[in-house]
Amino acid sequence: MSSRYAIVLAAGQGTRMKSKLYKVLHQVCGRAMVDHVITQVELANPEQIVTVVGHGAEAVEELLGDRSAYAFQEAQLGTGHAVLQAEAQLGTKEGMTLVVNGDTPLLTTQTFEKLFAYHQAKGAKATILTANADDPTGYGRIIRNDLGIVERIVEQKDASKEEAAVHEINTGVFCFDNQTLFNALHQVTNQNAQGEYYLTDVIQIIKDAGGIVAAYQTPDFTESLGVNDRVALSVATEIMQQRINEQHMRNGVTLIDPKTAHIDIDVKIGADTLVEGDVNLRGHTEIGADCVIGSHSELVDAKIHDRVHITSSTIEEAEMMTGSNIGPNSHLRPKAIIGEDAHIGNFCEVKNATIGARTKVGHLSYVGDATLGTDINVGCGVVFVNYDGVKKFHTNVGDHSFIGSNSNLVAPLELDQHSFVAAGSTVTDDVPEHAMAIARARQVNKDNYWQKLPLAQDPDWL
Ligand code: UD1
Ligand code: CA
Repeated sequence: MSSRYAIVLAAGQGTRMKSKLYKVLHQVCGRAMVDHVITQVELANPEQIVTVVGHGAEAVEELLGDRSAYAFQEAQLGTGHAVLQAEAQLGTKEGMTLVVNGDTPLLTTQTFEKLFAYHQAKGAKATILTANADDPTGYGRIIRNDLGIVERIVEQKDASKEEAAVHEINTGVFCFDNQTLFNALHQVTNQNAQGEYYLTDVIQIIKDAGGIVAAYQTPDFTESLGVNDRVALSVATEIMQQRINEQHMRNGVTLIDPKTAHIDIDVKIGADTLVEGDVNLRGHTEIGADCVIGSHSELVDAKIHDRVHITSSTIEEAEMMTGSNIGPNSHLRPKAIIGEDAHIGNFCEVKNATIGARTKVGHLSYVGDATLGTDINVGCGVVFVNYDGVKKFHTNVGDHSFIGSNSNLVAPLELDQHSFVAAGSTVTDDVPEHAMAIARARQVNKDNYWQKLPLAQDPDWL
């Protein structure tokens, strides 16, 4: 098999995005567009990938790391000029070079394989991946002669009326004989409507020099969608989301309303888990089997074990053990770990805290910087007071303790196992095993208080 190389074009600013963020870094289902492209390119096992960077070079390199080599394009003079920047790294190689734009996130490696196979079968020097577009606006058009043989590619802005009427478009993906590509690139000029060095011009150059040029038309136009603006970004996201969701459903996950289940590409979900509508599952979230993820929940980099039930809650960088449940309307913040069969109820916030098995935090509580043992009951409205305005402090609560409602536990604090806190206490001292802390003023009833009020003398008020 002849050697494979790949060049990914990612130097453009992406003016049409109207964004501070460089185009290829915009995300589609939790992954930057250029990352989607590189992931699919990697699956084709090229010996080397060179990504051409310019605008946002540092950010792109930081994202992709050593998955790619880089060529720097100082000024964005066009796609042909961009590819030429990879000459120092690849110019002398023998083999086939795949060229892909960094703004086509839906392409799959299967399509690259078909392109390679077609290229080799045709003995071509250049093979274009084309597609038939209902609306070809914005794409380069494939111009074929009367025999159906590809002659050249014409960019939208350079196209005559007849050329613009062609629906077969250039997807921006090519397979080239590597050395033919670089030889041809040196002959490309910028005599066109945009004053750019077009990669697409090498097609005619190779053909005129007697090289075989082939075109492989992929049946699925959507795969080649190029994202130049936010409208296309939303279309790409919708298509990618559908792919991701179908995969989960085939793996045994129930999605009640797939259209509103927003699931990032790296999310994992176990079988027989049910995901309701209007749910966001982001980042590297992992969900086990037999869970329920209720509507209006958002999980970001969360780790959810089996049989967990989540009702409209937000969970970020937190973990829920088997059989635990949360919600409605609670918030797990980073480093919250909820133990097996534990219960976090309504309007609770947990941050940097470990909650033991079967412990219950049922209502309106804040648990921050704490370690709670097993089988504890935390009453309604308990606040773990962890911050003195300068530093954070930790609270430990032993197994089988009982914290009465509306208590403040002022850290640092140790409550030993089987300890009790009376409702309404503000606890500032440690509580030993089996003891009950009452830390509030004793109740005093002022008898006949009402009679002392001036209003009590007013006959109308009685
Ligand atoms: C390009 C093709 C067009 C094709 C379409 C498919 C050319 C001239 N046109 O048009 O035929 O139908 O893709 O989506 O190739 N880039 C650089 N350096 C540059 C210019 C661009 O790295 O100097 C990168 C961009 O970051 C982008 C890619 O090349 O990832 C394509 O550039 P873009 O400006 O989006 O080209 P299109 O107008 O979409
Ligand atoms: Ca584009």
